[in-house]
Amino acid sequence: MRLSRRAVLKGAAAGGAFGLFGRAGGAGAGGADGSAPLTFAELARSTSDNHQVAPGYRAQVLIRQGDPIRRNAPPYRPGRQTGAEQEAQFGTDNDFLAYLPLPRGSASSARGLLGVNHESHYAHLCFPGTPSRLTREQCEVQMAAQGFSVIEIARQAQGWTLVDDSPYNRRISARTSMRASGPAAGSPRLRTNADPSGSLIYGTFGNCAGGTTPWHTILTAEENVQFYFSGDPGQGPEAAARKRYGITGRGYYPDWGRHFERFDLQREPNEPNRFGWIVEIDPYDPKSTPVKRTALGRCAHECATSAVSHDGRVAIYSGDDAPMEYVYKFVTRGKAGARRDLLDEGTLYAARFEAGGKMRWLPLVHGQGALTAANGFASQADVVIEVRRAADLVGATPMDRPEDVEAHPATGRIYVVLTSNWERKQVDAANPRGPNRHGHIVEIVPPLVNGRPDHAASECDWGFFLLGGDPAIPTHGARYAGPVGANGWLAAPDNIAFDPKGRIWIATDGQRGVAGFNDSLYAALTSGPDRGTPRCFFSAPRGAELAGPAFTPDGRTLFLSVQHPGAERGSTYDNPSTRWPDFRGDTPPRAAVVAITRSDGGEIGG
Ligand code: FEO
Ligand code: CA
Ligand code: CA
Ligand code: CA
Repeated sequence: MRLSRRAVLKGAAAGGAFGLFGRAGGAGAGGADGSAPLTFAELARSTSDNHQVAPGYRAQVLIRQGDPIRRNAPPYRPGRQTGAEQEAQFGTDNDFLAYLPLPRGSASSARGLLGVNHESHYAHLCFPGTPSRLTREQCEVQMAAQGFSVIEIARQAQGWTLVDDSPYNRRISARTSMRASGPAAGSPRLRTNADPSGSLIYGTFGNCAGGTTPWHTILTAEENVQFYFSGDPGQGPEAAARKRYGITGRGYYPDWGRHFERFDLQREPNEPNRFGWIVEIDPYDPKSTPVKRTALGRCAHECATSAVSHDGRVAIYSGDDAPMEYVYKFVTRGKAGARRDLLDEGTLYAARFEAGGKMRWLPLVHGQGALTAANGFASQADVVIEVRRAADLVGATPMDRPEDVEAHPATGRIYVVLTSNWERKQVDAANPRGPNRHGHIVEIVPPLVNGRPDHAASECDWGFFLLGGDPAIPTHGARYAGPVGANGWLAAPDNIAFDPKGRIWIATDGQRGVAGFNDSLYAALTSGPDRGTPRCFFSAPRGAELAGPAFTPDGRTLFLSVQHPGAERGSTYDNPSTRWPDFRGDTPPRAAVVAITRSDGGEIGG
């Protein structure tokens, strides 16, 4: 049984919280409001070891893990890489993608920089023999493989190519020097033996989603940094904070602490406080030092997406991707364009969603409310270092794994993507299923000032964009604004992007486990009578999740990350479940960026 649009709306009215379903248009709405029809033929479900794309489209593998990013850099040697080689090669597990045109500030859709996050490293898929203990060299490969890449790319007659002699091409890794700025810079809680200043940090890792700024820099989000530190977490003054941040001394990188003392909690108890930040990178200046912007708080940041408010101030939205964690926004004190260190001064907020369609942004400011010395916050540095505990105390709403958060470019509405939450027992207005197996998307509507969205507002309206799952199976509790085809319903939404026409593109992470088919990329309208009904456009190879959708300004190329192909139970370097994208017997699966174009050269989605 499929729910008709009328039935959904009726159910919505009864439920009360679905007030936004069917509402069309918004601030600045016009051709880009997301109501333009999607013309592609929907893709069928897939469990293939290869990717699939909608008919009439081409998906070209642009760059893969281990590919040299510079001319004369060493070629990829499967299973035998050194750390030094990997530092000159494209990293693993590419996630967030940002396309920034060249020259800077132009709208070129033929030449640009691709900024790429590298989130993690799967030892059993990258090293032969399923090693249980990694050598120092293998740990160096893991450190070099994560972080960030900047590459110059150009569109040629045969497709997109790497410009391998570009001065912009650059790797940033767990070993790159960066500085901290904002309230936590120099805090005693950031000081280590290697850095008595508390403001010089080596590296970034766990880089998940991100965002770009109006001044053409990239924000990369350090997500699951709790998995990198080993040793006993229950000692010393940081023990309580570690517990709140899930730093157990066990994780995915247990050998880093054996070979490098800064990852050993006993030797460097403050090192974990130097990770979990938003890092700002200027891709147009290859010599620039990345900056950890501590004013935006420390957590498992999924993303950091910007929106310019009615008065020129900039809001940076971010989700903290863990069960029962929070959605945040930071609002700058200054206006876009004023100066480069805009992200060091402003106000950080956490979201509280209320029944009845209102939500509030609660300020996380030292000295206000419960955020005082009596509760262990001696300064704003403590508030941002332990922003989760600060958000607990002000009464923010624990959410179902907040992943990507993005502002619609035309309507200003904020889309909060909640992947799933198997731990939820008690439901609330904004998280209505427990456990939440299929995920959902919440839509926040900021008030308008002179017709423009006020992203600094402390009170907004909210509703649901969709509740994932199969509407034909009542126990899923799925809700869509209109009828969804058998191939269109989705689960585990993760990263989103808007195309130049304002339509939403939703990438999933974890569909196979909950729905039985590979992770996919869906498109849906955001306005008009047909809004909110996804259609499947691209399907990942087995074991991969999809991430980082990014469009060129003309909407004719869609870049997409295929992360960790073959990452399934029992799948190893020697016997992987797919060898995507090379399909060579001596090469393991490799994460890669694909560039999707339409065979007739038209706009993606129609
Ligand atoms: Fe890195 Fe929350 O996905
Ligand atoms: Ca993600
Ligand atoms: Ca995004
Ligand atoms: Ca993910």
